[in-house]
Amino acid sequence: MNRIEAIIRSIDRLPPLPAIIHQALQRINDPGSSAQDVVEIIQYDQGITAQVLQVCNSAYFNLRRQVHSLKEALVLLGFNTLMQILLHNSFKGVLSHSCRGYDLDTGALWKHSVSCALLTEILTRRLQRQPDSRLFTAALLHDMGKVVLSAYVQETFAAIKGLVREQGYSFVAAEREVLGIDHAELGGLIAEKWAFPRAIIAAVRYHHTPWLSGEDCSDLVGLVHLANCMALLTGIGGGSDGLYYTGDPDLMENFRLREKDVEKCLTQLNDRLAAMEAWLEMG
Ligand SMILES: [Fe+2]
Ligand SMILES: [Fe+2]
Repeated sequence: MNRIEAIIRSIDRLPPLPAIIHQALQRINDPGSSAQDVVEIIQYDQGITAQVLQVCNSAYFNLRRQVHSLKEALVLLGFNTLMQILLHNSFKGVLSHSCRGYDLDTGALWKHSVSCALLTEILTRRLQRQPDSRLFTAALLHDMGKVVLSAYVQETFAAIKGLVREQGYSFVAAEREVLGIDHAELGGLIAEKWAFPRAIIAAVRYHHTPWLSGEDCSDLVGLVHLANCMALLTGIGGGSDGLYYTGDPDLMENFRLREKDVEKCLTQLNDRLAAMEAWLEMG
């Protein structure tokens, strides 16, 4: 078995996608389904139901009465927040692993992923678009490939860094050159294996190269790319590769964003991170 085959095979060692996430994403991707349909799926999972109710009844929301049902919780929190609790619950474990190859300590990749996901939400609001749960999901999982590729990057780090430093390669291009595959492509394969909606697969696969994604799903891909570039600016969970990527210079203009907008989004990110920590890190 050659190295690329070994890398692709190691995807199988990841935990399977929780069935509840799979079903929720199918519903989200189906324009005919409603938030209520997703609540019907969630209600069979006692752990997640308990967590949703705990978030609702936390001091953060400061309600005068206790919330006892998922239906009430949905009205109070809104559908996107409900989805965020679901995703947090399912992916925090795997994305919190340390990734030695990228010099990411325990929890660093998770913080970067959450920052990126929150930035897609902040950008969506700034651009006055409809919230899209697929966008938050794609951004949260965009660097999933790093969890698998980390060990291989660690083994070949000198060669990858050599191409980056001496020949001006971006970090993903150097991964591809040395290992035959990069973490974005690998993330795309993971998303495919988990049968994610097409737009999410594309956003993960092309998060460093949105110009290669083609017309299809390009908005989602572009926003995840922008959010990732912005998350890297904060330095949170950037890792040893964080400085060695190129942003798409046309995207800022395509979305009519100015540097000032980026600054404002990053300020909002701090508040959103603090709020999310307040209601998700409880207990
Ligand atoms: Fe990445
Ligand atoms: Fe990233």
